[in-house]
Parts: sequence; structure tokens; C-alpha cells
Amino acid sequence: MTALTLSTSSAASLRADAIVIGVAKGEKGPVVASGAEDVDKAFDGKLAAVLETLGASGGEGEVTKLPAPSGFKAPVVLAVGLGEKPGKGESFDADTLRRAAGAAARALSGSAKGAFALPVTDAADASAVAEGALLGAYSFTAYRTDGNGKKKAADDKSAPLAEVALLGTKPRDKAFKAAAERATALAAEVNRARDLVNTPSNDLTPASFAAAAQSAAKEHGLKAEVLDEKALIKGGYGGLVGVGKGSENPPRLVKLSYTHPKAKQHLAFVGKGITYDSGGISLKPAGHNETMKCDMSGAAAVLGAVVAASRLGLRVNVTGWLALAENMPSGSATRPGDVLRMYSGKTVEVLNTDAEGRLVMADALTRASEEKPDAIVDVATLTGAMVVALGNRTFAVMANTDAFRDTVHETALEAGEQSWPMPMPKELRKSMDSPVADMANIGERAGGGLVAGLFLQEFVGEGIDWAHLDIAGPAFHESAPFGYTPKGGTGSGLRTLVRLAERAAGGDLG
Ligand code: BES
Ligand code: MN
Ligand code: ZN
Repeated sequence: MTALTLSTSSAASLRADAIVIGVAKGEKGPVVASGAEDVDKAFDGKLAAVLETLGASGGEGEVTKLPAPSGFKAPVVLAVGLGEKPGKGESFDADTLRRAAGAAARALSGSAKGAFALPVTDAADASAVAEGALLGAYSFTAYRTDGNGKKKAADDKSAPLAEVALLGTKPRDKAFKAAAERATALAAEVNRARDLVNTPSNDLTPASFAAAAQSAAKEHGLKAEVLDEKALIKGGYGGLVGVGKGSENPPRLVKLSYTHPKAKQHLAFVGKGITYDSGGISLKPAGHNETMKCDMSGAAAVLGAVVAASRLGLRVNVTGWLALAENMPSGSATRPGDVLRMYSGKTVEVLNTDAEGRLVMADALTRASEEKPDAIVDVATLTGAMVVALGNRTFAVMANTDAFRDTVHETALEAGEQSWPMPMPKELRKSMDSPVADMANIGERAGGGLVAGLFLQEFVGEGIDWAHLDIAGPAFHESAPFGYTPKGGTGSGLRTLVRLAERAAGGDLG
């Protein structure tokens, strides 16, 4: 991954491929943001005018490159748009800094070093710029070759920016050091999640995902336990077994444990890990299955979040559950009309095999509840209905109490993730009544995302705070990259989980 360094050097004296500065949209044209005073001075205070001549407006995400002034060691100044200039006495908010840094890092792909002189007033700003730059620099190159089967050379134009130097930060200051460490750990784990999501399903199976989780756990001091298909059958995990039995690649349930000796709270995170969702016998039509390798994004977010909690040494216990299966049609697949006996003992009539996520999640939620955590948060690419409701950039938060839903929603915004609270209307539950089993796996079509949430709620232990993030929209980004969001896997949900763990560590879960 991209390296991060803190630097007190002046913009002129630093050897880099580009000096990154911020430009905001002012009332009368572009305005150079603070942090770039040295650069502006070298342009005789006329940098804003030069930028305007070049067509820059300061609009969000806009990138303008110009030659650096003489005497600068870096050849290029890269001005990145910050959007509307904040009011008097106000500063740029964290996500504006993250997105601008991300856009700049993306524009510098293929380069060795970018020196970031963005408006940073404190360690929190530095953390945001670092996070944005490290996330924006991401690219997925594992399957790229030079055309002859050889891995591409390191100087390839699509290679991520190799080093980010943050100017105007103090490398020996405790707060700045902590900010850099947090940004590095967080970005590394988001990028790990993105790699897992982008890995095609012929290489990422439940077994290989479980193995990847085990090796990450080993590297970062977590305990990992894996139930294979035999153990799942023996343990009565009817949901995981029922979804996985149509595939040559059998299911797994992974438990990851991070514990801190001084922890006062215990959080459980549960992730949907369908390594490919064909729909099963209720097969998805063409046009709806091309990106379904992303259906394990929840599990990827959970893995990264537990590892991040460990890397940051948070004073909280965190258990991660990865519900891994591949949903395929075959002679051994679950049929529409089959009844599954779930891990909780409830029976479920599977009317649509494409509503598989809730089946694997149900077993994992019941299992997670057995350990009586203070709260459970699950993350799943659960429904197309939620994509219709909230679009491609916002995830839904549902919960068994309004208070916990609000806590999780606020935490998401704090983490810089777009989130929206959704209701759990009780009257929708009866649409899942079944004539043969305790319930069916589908109900009314209207409010399909809420119906799915109500299904999951049935498997959460009594008295445990529970929230559900439906990340079907934001998990996989299909259009042009923006800010620090690349094409493909995004790592959606992960930063919210880590922020929740941080809040729990501080006894601040509401
Ligand atoms: N994995 C899909 C949901 C999804 C849709 C994720 C679009 C990402 C993008 C899920 O398993 C699914 O197929 N849900 C069905 C449920 C329906 C059959 C009740 C859906 O949303 O159509
Ligand atoms: Mn499905
Ligand atoms: Zn699915």
C-alpha cells in the first residue's frame, strides 16, 4: 500500500512528483486554500488568478495541473477543488478533505511521491487528508499483466501513488502520529476489503475467503475459528448449509475474536459473505448477475473492521462472524418450496432461493447472540429494493430500537459514510407467514428492504441491541471514480464499524 509520511519541509524544498494544494470556490472565482501560502507566494500571490486562467473554478473534485514555480524541487503543482469555501471562522469538514485528497491521489497514480499541502489545522484534519489520499490511491492490479502473462512493472501508470507526504504536520507530535497511524490502519483494512470484493468468484470461494481471514487474523493477533461444511451440518446450521449446498464450493462460518484485557464492552459484527450470488434455482437474469461477486462485501467489511480494532488496540472486545457460502443452481441446490431448519430451530420455507443472504445471516445472528454481546451490527448487500430506495451511495440502517438506530446512523456520518435511517414496520411481518413452516424467506414486494430487515430481526437474541446495514447500493461502485471511491469494491460499512468500536471503547455507545 501507499506509504504515509509526516513532514515539516517547505513546499519548495521537498523532492516529490507534485505539490498538492487546495482551491475552493469563492464568490468571485477560485480561492487558494490555506496550507498553500508558500506556493502562492512563489507565484507572487497570483496563484488564484493563474488557476482561473487555466479554467479552474474550485469545484469539488476538479484537478488542475500547472508547472511548479522556479526554485521548487517538485516539477508540478496539482490544485484540487474543495468546493464551496466555508464561511468565516469555519474550516473544511473532514469528508471534504478526504474526498479532495482522494481525487488528488487518484490523479497522481503512476507517480512515486505526492506532497500534500491541503488546509490542515489540526490532527483530525491531517487524519482526514491521510485517509482520503490512502483510499484514493487504491487500485486493483492483481489480474493485470503486460499482455504476455507477466506482472506489470512497478512504474505502470495505473499503479497507486507510492508515497503520500503530509506537509505542515509534526512527525514528533503525539496527536499527529496517532492520526497517521489510525489513517494507515483504517485505509489498509478498507483496501483489504476492496481487494476481497474485487477478487473474482473463481478465486474467492468460501474456503479461500476463510483461509484469507485466518492468515489476516494470525498476522494481527486475532483468534480465528472456522466451521467447515461438515461442522455446519453437524451443528444444525440449516441456513448456511441450505444456501451452500448447490455449489461445488461448500460454505464456511468464520469467527474472529479480538479481546482487550481492559474491555468493558463486547461488540459483535456479522457479515454477509456470498462469494457469488447467481440467485440459485430462482436464477437471476442477465443484467443482474455480472457484479454479484460483490455479495460478500459485508463479510469483507467485518473482517477488516475486526483487524482494524486490533491494529488500533481499542479497549473493547470485538467478535466478527463471516457467513460464507456460494449461491448456485445445481442438482443438489435448495429448491423453491424446500423447508430449512435454521440454527435457531425455526423452520423457513424458501420461496425464492435468491433471497439467500437473510438465510446465511440468520444462522450467524443466532450464533452471535449466544455469546450475549452488548450489541450486534450486521452488514449485508441484502436487497435490490434498498438500492431503489436510497441509490448507489447511501446505505440503510435499521435496528431493533430507535435509539440504537440513531447511534449507528450518527456514527456512520462521523466516519464519513453516507447512511440513512429506515423503519421496521411491524405490519410487514405477516407477509412472511408460511402455510407449512414457521415463516417464509420472502414477503411483500413493497418495502422489500424492510421485509428483509424484519426477517433478520427474528434471529437476534432477546435484549441485545442490534442494527442492520443494507449496503447493496454503495458496496460496489460501477460508474466513474469520485473522491476516494474507486470503481469496483468500496469497503462500504467498514469505517462505520471501526468508529462504533472506538465509541464502545470510550463507553460512548449511547
Ligand atoms: N445479493 C442480492 C441483493 C443485491 C442486489 C445486492 C443488487 C447488490 C446489488 C440479494 O441476495 C437478492 O438477490 N435479493 C433479492 C431479494 C428478493 C428475491 C426478495 C432482491 O433484492 O431482488
Ligand atoms: Mn440473492
Ligand atoms: Zn445476495
